[in-house]
Amino acid sequence: MDSPLNSEIESFFDSAPPLNDRAAISEKLKEFIALNSSESGTRRVACVTSGGTTVPLEQRCVRYIDNFSSGHRGAASTEHLIKMGYAVIFLYRRGTCEPYCSSLPDDAFLECFEVTEESAVQVCQPYSEAVKRAIRDHHAAVAGGLLLKLPFTTIFEYLQMLQMIAVSSRSLGPCSMFYLAAAVSDFYVPWKSMQKQFRVLKIERLVDFVDVPNVPQVYLNWSIGAWKLNFRRVFLNQLGNKKAEHKIQSGSGPLDMQLLQVPKMLSVLRKEWAPMAFCISFKLETDAEILLEKADMARKKYGMHAVVANELLSRKEQVVVVTNNGKIPVYRDKTSSDSDVEKPLTKLLVDRHSVYIKDSNT
Ligand code: PMT
Repeated sequence: MDSPLNSEIESFFDSAPPLNDRAAISEKLKEFIALNSSESGTRRVACVTSGGTTVPLEQRCVRYIDNFSSGHRGAASTEHLIKMGYAVIFLYRRGTCEPYCSSLPDDAFLECFEVTEESAVQVCQPYSEAVKRAIRDHHAAVAGGLLLKLPFTTIFEYLQMLQMIAVSSRSLGPCSMFYLAAAVSDFYVPWKSMQKQFRVLKIERLVDFVDVPNVPQVYLNWSIGAWKLNFRRVFLNQLGNKKAEHKIQSGSGPLDMQLLQVPKMLSVLRKEWAPMAFCISFKLETDAEILLEKADMARKKYGMHAVVANELLSRKEQVVVVTNNGKIPVYRDKTSSDSDVEKPLTKLLVDRHSVYIKDSNT
């Protein structure tokens, strides 16, 4: 590990708080991989990442920067991959969509249930079939050793767990697939130079500011290598650690802070962590004009086997799979109301994975 990128990666991991449940996660992974590898033939195992990572701004975190992703893409893709015979390690952001839950109501979970006169709990009629199906399919996948769910919240947890999964699944060789649909933070505050806590008079989630249109007090200015966040109405009575490497300053006015760039882990995943795995990354843009070019650049730069290019507003209707053989558009089947774009997308990628396994074995 001596290239500039590798030393950035090392310093990212050195600065990360250790995972609380590292030993338990490692045990679960070992069991899951062993269950799906046997002498008679190894099952294909996909690691599907889903949801957005957060960047905490304090060690005892009150405020954080969030990355947008509902987790629908990852959850739906997991269901399709399991149907096609894969075992899936679902690395997902706590609280985002999970497999087999898409037909359940989003907000009012308790509305699904009622208490009978005999004080038993039962599912209300309109939801009864959906809940039964969700429970049955979910239990079958977990009990059958086809689904392992590992939740994360922060960028630190996500990247440490991704590394653990990649290294643990090395023994699967080309039968392992990485389907990296999570929206990963580009900038972070190094853990060790972060304040332990801020005493904040007015506590706000950054994402809440950003989501509300026309909120005048929020300015997000892109600058080279750093997000500059200016908040007029976040009052702090404990200011940034003067010795900290990154800058957190505030008076009664704006708060300025500089974040470090999260090193892209895609090339190290390909070259070192899981060199035989079939790797698919995603490229999200809001500007369709530059999307395909950037996806192709990412494919070449990080040695991905495919990059799924999607544009924010149309991502549920169409995507383009960029490979070394060209760019293949994939559409949702509009003739069926309950269809999704993940079905044809995963089918295409599974076919590509089959070719990859065949080529790797000859
Ligand atoms: O969840 P949904 O609401 O259904 O939406 C799905 C989605 C739009 C989030 C998904 O389809 C998608 O595009 N996910 C990737 C979004 C993203 O983070 O794009 P990016 O351009 O920032 O990163 C490109 C790739 O680099 C990603 O595969 C990511 O895993 C990787 N990356 C990113 C940042 C970083 N520091 N390190 C990385 O390795």
